[in-house]
Amino acid sequence: MNKRPGDIKPATGKLGVLIPGMGAVATTFIAGVEAIRKGHAKPIGSLTQMGTIRLGKRTDGRSPAVKDFVPLSSLDDLVFGGWDVYPDSAYEAAKKAGVLSNEDLAKVEGFLRGIKPMPAVFEPEFVKKLNGTHVKKGKSKLDLAEQVMADIAAFKKEHGCERLVMVWCGSTEVYRQAVGVHQTLAAFEQGLRDSSPDIAPSQIYAYAALKSGIPYANGAPNLTVDFPAMIELAKKMNLPICGKDFKTGQTLMKTILAPGFKARLLGLEGWYSTNILGNRDGEVLDDPESFKSKEVSKLGVLEHILQPHLYKDLYSNIHHVVRINYYPPRGDNKEGWDNIDIFGWMGYPMQIKIDFLCRDSILAAPIVLDLALFMDLAQRVGFHGIQEWLSFYFKSPMTPEGLYPEHDLFIQLMKLKNTLRHLRGEELITHLGTEYYD
Ligand SMILES: NC(=O)c1ccc[n+]([C@@H]2O[C@H](COP(=O)([O-])OP(=O)(O)OC[C@H]3O[C@@H](n4cnc5c(N)ncnc54)[C@H](O)[C@@H]3O)[C@@H](O)[C@H]2O)c1
Repeated sequence: MNKRPGDIKPATGKLGVLIPGMGAVATTFIAGVEAIRKGHAKPIGSLTQMGTIRLGKRTDGRSPAVKDFVPLSSLDDLVFGGWDVYPDSAYEAAKKAGVLSNEDLAKVEGFLRGIKPMPAVFEPEFVKKLNGTHVKKGKSKLDLAEQVMADIAAFKKEHGCERLVMVWCGSTEVYRQAVGVHQTLAAFEQGLRDSSPDIAPSQIYAYAALKSGIPYANGAPNLTVDFPAMIELAKKMNLPICGKDFKTGQTLMKTILAPGFKARLLGLEGWYSTNILGNRDGEVLDDPESFKSKEVSKLGVLEHILQPHLYKDLYSNIHHVVRINYYPPRGDNKEGWDNIDIFGWMGYPMQIKIDFLCRDSILAAPIVLDLALFMDLAQRVGFHGIQEWLSFYFKSPMTPEGLYPEHDLFIQLMKLKNTLRHLRGEELITHLGTEYYD
């Protein structure tokens, strides 16, 4: 059923963006939005701010800006809050993260200093390399969730927000699979009351967000909202959820290149990827258990794009290796090296080498912005459950049970834009050339 423009609730009033984990990504995002509002910078990398969408036939010449086509909150209406295990203001955290220059930070210093994180829900068991003390104490995990709900309500009141969204930008938690307590909402709530050791801090934030009527997006690879109990809660509350793991850096490159190899039916023998990074994220990922979450999230990409079951001769024997090396001198300016062994006509081998001198948080910040705005749109439209149309932004997109994730960046973009067209009752664009029949 196509929605008509009138069906979408307007994006009036303030939109609060709540962020568990106010580190490099979160502070780069917030500082950037403020710099853009003040006219010091442009929202480069953001589809909601710079993207356009073609409507109708190519000859129609209709390509409005995405933000004029669907009602999105204006950047001026965004307010920010969050939680961290360290009490540093957004300014101090941004300084420590070392992503933005002192000169850029100075222009938004007062604004960033005014954003102080609320005490976190934290358990060192889930992020072994951190030892922050700015943390909540509670009688049970349910008590902690209720404290987060109280924080949310207080923030909403203090800032006069009409609506809120939550985007997890906290550290990557250790790798855990969903177990009994994650299977139903009733089991999860019992687990909260019993302080089940299987319930991670990120899941407590997600529960608190959904119970408070707030959409939740997950920027890290840990489960957070990707298990049946949370999907059940999202449906019950009629709320959108999405994740996992912002698609930046090396995986972004992979999902740009691999569809190209497949399109041209070039074979792949191996893809060796290594990263050198020196920020706090790198330090957390130096712990093998946190790295495992990341590895699982990064490895699935090639198989789903290349479909070896359909292209046996080309992709059934791929050596795919992903490494992350913590090397402090690199700071946030990661170096991503890829060696790709491909083969062509008659099996002749070729190699591609990529050395991506990338800035992780610079790539991630516009994703946080787009997710905040699109998740708010999704809620106003009445979308609920997993938002697959936002797979474009994730390394390991959440999918309903039984479906495989779509990783190809270009298919993801088409899905996103077609979802927007559908929302406004515009024709979907299939790129079918009907002129041959004329
Ligand atoms: N930078 C990227 O390009 C990128 C890409 C994909 C995913 N991610 C993920 O985004 C997350 C943030 O990355 P970053 O570079 O900003 O890392 P970061 O280490 O700079 O920031 C993470 C922050 O989360 C805080 N934190 C940890 N556990 C918390 C909890 N339970 N409650 C509240 N705060 C908590 C930490 O103290 C830290 O300040 C990581 O999980 C990372 O893997 C980042």
